[in-house]
Amino acid sequence: MRRIYMDANATTPLLPPVLDAMRPFWSQEFGNASSIHQRGQHARAAVDRARESVAALLNCRAAEIVFTSGGTESDNMALFGTLAPGDHLITTGIEHHAVLHAAQELETRGVDVTFLPCTCEGLIELAALRSALRPNTRLVSVMLANNETGVIQPVRDLADAAHAAGALFHTDAIQAAGKLPLDVKTLGCDLLSISGHKMYAPQGTGALFVRRNVRLKSMFFGGLHERGRRPGTENVAGIVGLGKAAELARMWLAEDSTRSEASTSDSPHSLAALRDRLEQGILAAVEEAGINGDPAPRVANTSNLYFDHVEAEALVIALDLKGLAVSGGSACQSGATEPSHVLTAMGLSEPRARASVRFSLSRLTTVDEVDAALKLVPAAVARLRELSPRSSQALNQLATSN
Ligand SMILES: Cc1ncc(COP(=O)(O)O)c(C=O)c1O
Repeated sequence: MRRIYMDANATTPLLPPVLDAMRPFWSQEFGNASSIHQRGQHARAAVDRARESVAALLNCRAAEIVFTSGGTESDNMALFGTLAPGDHLITTGIEHHAVLHAAQELETRGVDVTFLPCTCEGLIELAALRSALRPNTRLVSVMLANNETGVIQPVRDLADAAHAAGALFHTDAIQAAGKLPLDVKTLGCDLLSISGHKMYAPQGTGALFVRRNVRLKSMFFGGLHERGRRPGTENVAGIVGLGKAAELARMWLAEDSTRSEASTSDSPHSLAALRDRLEQGILAAVEEAGINGDPAPRVANTSNLYFDHVEAEALVIALDLKGLAVSGGSACQSGATEPSHVLTAMGLSEPRARASVRFSLSRLTTVDEVDAALKLVPAAVARLRELSPRSSQALNQLATSN
């Protein structure tokens, strides 16, 4: 059976050039980057090169990059590293759990936390931030692109408001990396998180940008790695992979901007054009369906669609049985029975939130795959709707008939 992957926001495929760059560091180049002999020096040089590549993607100094074990650690480091009891943190109700749960934990440790609401399109309003700012607000953390809907927040304006009130600004840019320019100067942020496995590098790699002069307490204690900000022997191969992925991301962003400058009608192979083809095709074929987050600006690869009277979980399984991998809500929540906190914060009814499925395309998605999905999705939705309004029953029938 042909397998089509449309769940790139859960994790992206590891690209061959990234794997090729990493491979030597799992074999002959196995040195510890802290060792002073030649093998150590090779490892150190590779880490330094990767740091330069990530810094180039973010338009910052290499010394402002801290390598981490992934997005969750980067987000936790930004929050726990800057906040102390008595401080005030402002974040939003639509953050990934890596920020949301960290904020809730900080609350139990004496940090005041305000969770900003969003509009029905999933946007955080500047006025809401302004009215929540207090003299003791130490940090504002608002994600750049939402992992479930792809909605892009007006980070620059929010960062300016935070700075005007004397607060630091962190953005979780994990779902924006490789999709949007991540120039920290243009974005105006003091801290920015990225994760390797959302940008074609391996799982378990990530980085936090920490602007010079921002004091960050270390969460761990050990050696002086990463300028004392993150002790622990570096994951050299993973860091090299992240560096290579950052180079690829820069190349794609340059291509994307040339493409949009050069033509009024996007190339059929651009991510945005593929996503639009997918959305338009599905919405033309399926009634009582729509786009969550529309018409807010969204990253080009993400499409969160609701199909009324269908349980997302049943649809995800039905599509998987036909070879199409998509996701209902965020992957980290799968198995949980609660509807998505992002969609409910946007004001979706519980049934509609439970009827929402995320399609997230990767740089490897082809027109052919989109066209195949355009056959599979309407058929699966129609079948589920036909079988029963209760998708759990529908699912049983589907599983036995496949
Ligand atoms: C927006 C966002 N933040 C944080 C994370 C956590 O990143 P990681 O899986 O690298 O820990 C994810 C992962 O889905 C994410 O989408």
